[in-house]
Amino acid sequence: MIIREVEFIGSFEHEHQCPRTNLPEYAFIGRSNVGKSSLINSITGRKDIARISSTPGKTQTINYYLINNEWYLVDLPGYGYAKISKTARKKWAAMIEKYLLTRKPLKCVFTLIDSRIPLQKKDEEFLDSLGDNQIPFVIAYTKLDKVRKTMRNTNVSAIQEALLESWEYLPQQFLTSAVTNEGREDILNFIEEINNN
Ligand code: GTP
Ligand code: MG
Repeated sequence: MIIREVEFIGSFEHEHQCPRTNLPEYAFIGRSNVGKSSLINSITGRKDIARISSTPGKTQTINYYLINNEWYLVDLPGYGYAKISKTARKKWAAMIEKYLLTRKPLKCVFTLIDSRIPLQKKDEEFLDSLGDNQIPFVIAYTKLDKVRKTMRNTNVSAIQEALLESWEYLPQQFLTSAVTNEGREDILNFIEEINNN
């Protein structure tokens, strides 16, 4: 797919404020700092359409990007950020839950997992909740440019094994890097296929 147009549509705090269109959308979620916003920039080929920060917790709203006037990428705030208050965490959980459970045009959730570290409890819990609610998802391993070539398989296999303790089989997975743009084409092809169905 060729990205001809990328338009930032808005940041919303509630599902009911999100665009009232039927265009297919793809949400990016994962632990705080995992690289959601960076991957969106990589996929769209726009360096800084989504705000990036080395401080976790940068994205706090549901952010919509309209691609080619045909579909949306949705940047969601990260989970598992330790330094926020209980109230803020509850607010996050309520916002995300409402969005994931009720948003009709949501075609697939891209759950991002850091390829440099073992699977985290927060990731497991989040994936479990997607499964419990039958929300379609895929996995994108992030920051692969930071993993030595010889360690790629080791790292990814370890995460897969941990996942297979609770899942019978795994969904589609993408190896990505926002630095080298690895995975970009695969993700765009995957999205194109769903859009065309
Ligand atoms: P929140 O919005 O705070 O939840 O974070 P996020 O998941 O959107 O992460 P973000 O894209 O802001 O990136 C967090 C940090 O990781 C930044 O310092 C990025 O530059 C860095 N980063 C993200 N993706 C990659 C990648 O593929 N490779 C490398 N080397 N660094 C990355
Ligand atoms: Mg972000």
